[in-house]
Amino acid sequence: MNVIDKLIARPNNFPFRRLIWKYWYNHLASKYENINIRLMNYGYVEQTNAQELKLDICDEAERYCIQLYHHVANAILLTESEVLEVGCGRGGGAYYVKSYLNPRSLTGIDFSRSNIDFCRQKYQLPGLNFELGDAEALQFADNTFDTVINVESSHCYQQTERFFTEVYRVLRRDGKFLFTDFRPKEAVAATRKQLQNAGFSILKEENITANVCASMELEHQRKIGIIDRQVPYIFRGLAGYFAAAKGTPMYEGLKTGELEYLCYVLKKQPSSISNNMRQHRSRLPETAEV
Ligand SMILES: C[S@@+](CC[C@H](N)C(=O)[O-])C[C@H]1O[C@@H](n2cnc3c(N)ncnc32)[C@H](O)[C@@H]1O
Repeated sequence: MNVIDKLIARPNNFPFRRLIWKYWYNHLASKYENINIRLMNYGYVEQTNAQELKLDICDEAERYCIQLYHHVANAILLTESEVLEVGCGRGGGAYYVKSYLNPRSLTGIDFSRSNIDFCRQKYQLPGLNFELGDAEALQFADNTFDTVINVESSHCYQQTERFFTEVYRVLRRDGKFLFTDFRPKEAVAATRKQLQNAGFSILKEENITANVCASMELEHQRKIGIIDRQVPYIFRGLAGYFAAAKGTPMYEGLKTGELEYLCYVLKKQPSSISNNMRQHRSRLPETAEV
């Protein structure tokens, strides 16, 4: 894998990972401020005959990206929940969750100032707020939220362990962490261990790679259309790379199973459990129900 592959697909082992991503997302958001993109994930397509998600007509263009949010966030009942979304990007997912799934409040944070400026300008919905913030050093007090959501953002972090510990800290007792992202196949076990070491019990763990690949195929033409219309010729290859267009290593990695797209529902264990006990427990099979 070359440098860009490592940066995208292999969390933790690339120097300056965090700074490079911060520059990239700030650049994207400020350069393409007026582009009509509200979500930036690879999307999700149901593989069963489940009823199609009902969306307002204005949300149809980004259906697959919204479906990923729906799959992640609808795993639990969110009404009455105070929700934090970390890595909210251009806020389309936060807007979907707040307006369709009805939590009491939703705070979206992102480390790109341009993204947060975009969100504040774009969405005016009671109970939906956006703040600048860093996943690895959350600015909130302990026990502030009932639910934390994190969608396709953690691969950008320098130290995912630090992020998981921060999520654990800001969640209330029995709070839920709804987490999805891709990892190299050989890093899946380490990610699970990091989550358990942070104190979470795993209520649900899914491999949704096939669902994400189905979306990437259906989204290919739309992505290429946007890139051709908006991105100068010399940067189109790079843009396709980050969008995981067909033929790119990201796309191929997911298609061949070298990369796996994971989706978790996690629960904060009571804080009286010591780290040692957590580590001991993390070796036991989990039987909890969602
Ligand atoms: C691929 S985008 C996904 C955005 C959004 N979750 C979505 O699905 O549309 C990844 C986002 O994570 C944000 N991000 C990356 N590292 C971050 C960090 N350390 N703290 C907060 N946000 C971060 C980026 O700025 C970017 O908006």
